[in-house]
Amino acid sequence: MSSVPGLAKPARKLLIRTWGCQMNVYDSGRMADLLAPLGYAPTESPEEADMVILNTCHIREKASEKVFSDLGRLRETKKARAAEGRQTVIAVAGCVAQAEGAEITARAPWVDIVLGPQTYHRLPEMVARASRAAGAVIETDFPAEDKFDHLPEARGAQGPVAFLTIQEGCDKFCSFCVVPYTRGAEFSRPAAAILAEARQLVAQGAREIALLGQNVNAWAGEAPRTALSPAGSTWGLARLLRELAEIPGLARLRYTTSHPRDMADDLIAAHGEIPALMPYLHLPVQSGSDRVLAAMNRGHKADLYLRLADRLREARPDIALTSDFIVGHPGETAADFEATMALVERVGFAGAYSFKYSARPGTPAASMAGLVAEPEKDSRLQTLQAVLRHQQDAFNRACVGRVVDVLVTGSGRHPGQVAGRSPWLQPVHAPMPHVPGMPPVGAVVPMTLVAANPNSLSATVVHEESAAA
Ligand code: 5AD
Ligand code: SF4
Repeated sequence: MSSVPGLAKPARKLLIRTWGCQMNVYDSGRMADLLAPLGYAPTESPEEADMVILNTCHIREKASEKVFSDLGRLRETKKARAAEGRQTVIAVAGCVAQAEGAEITARAPWVDIVLGPQTYHRLPEMVARASRAAGAVIETDFPAEDKFDHLPEARGAQGPVAFLTIQEGCDKFCSFCVVPYTRGAEFSRPAAAILAEARQLVAQGAREIALLGQNVNAWAGEAPRTALSPAGSTWGLARLLRELAEIPGLARLRYTTSHPRDMADDLIAAHGEIPALMPYLHLPVQSGSDRVLAAMNRGHKADLYLRLADRLREARPDIALTSDFIVGHPGETAADFEATMALVERVGFAGAYSFKYSARPGTPAASMAGLVAEPEKDSRLQTLQAVLRHQQDAFNRACVGRVVDVLVTGSGRHPGQVAGRSPWLQPVHAPMPHVPGMPPVGAVVPMTLVAANPNSLSATVVHEESAAA
């Protein structure tokens, strides 16, 4: 399905705009791969684009609204191009498409294709149908087949950091969240397919792979079939990480996003046992109040999270923990919010995302009593963010003076600089002489961290000769 034999490939331009999570970033890459054999080359300019894909996010209200304002602007571009005799196919993909397919075609009839996250492999066929049909094509079903089986192998060279989706969907049904409705039930890709894709990414230049999934640590995939492992046996994430770490040339592994309930003992242990597994874990807790956690249907109490944080630090003392928080969930009192603040103080985060609760249509929380007034939400968010920012700054400052391995990702913003990322995902930049072969993209270079800036760390290279490796 990755090419159309015998057809000439007209030069066409494709613009993909991506919102939301890393899984959408990954999906956008795969959609570009899928359309390349049809002659679509990437562009950043809407005026140039013969096809525009908006890969959307539905998780909070603001994200969905942006899609409709973008569509308004694209209508004008499409009209202007049509006046010049040029066709423009507009597609809305991702979770807004899944959740609001009919509304999109009603509100924006100039949209040609609406496709949910499970139907990307049908994109070339939909493009062909849309080019012919007057009405929009809508594909948002959850087919039984595995969309990953149909996606083409990623092409060409790629940067040192790669994403690899290993799991999709969610069965947790947190009361505030649309994901179980937009991404469907939990599905784990088989281990053999993941290992093959990882090897391919490494062959194309990846040194760091981040495994993606809405509930990545719930991954339970079919084990590769061997004489010792008959059909039907499954692996958990810890085993998968161990196997991935064996791939020659792969220096770093991460996984995101995890749920506290699925932090299995062997996964915690893996953080102390697999050197390639970076000392960093994004583990959303959402709230520190047992009452709110129950209303959110998170399935655990605050104490479980605190114990997890302790156990992870026992396994890997330098682990950085980050999290997500929602303030103002229906029913959240001032005392509940204080419990969140207490949890934050107790854990100490290296970074976090925090949001005001926004009601998502169709979710249980949207019809719960006890709405928190907007100004109260604002003030709680500010209070929380001030402490989280302070903790992040403190974490970054504590890194100064340490010698760490930096994965070089490219040139820095200023001449004579290289840019990279630390084991804790901090952007790092360091002076490096401009000689041929520099920057050594993909090299892991020991650097001394010398200063913490608001959004990055400054460093100096420890052994210049290892930079050329
Ligand atoms: N309102 C506010 N924040 C939300 N999130 C998910 N749904 C909502 C909502 N309805 C946040 C959670 C989640 C992150 C990806 O987005 O914190 O972990
Ligand atoms: Fe949404 Fe909860 Fe599933 Fe995360 S675990 S995707 S917050 S329902």
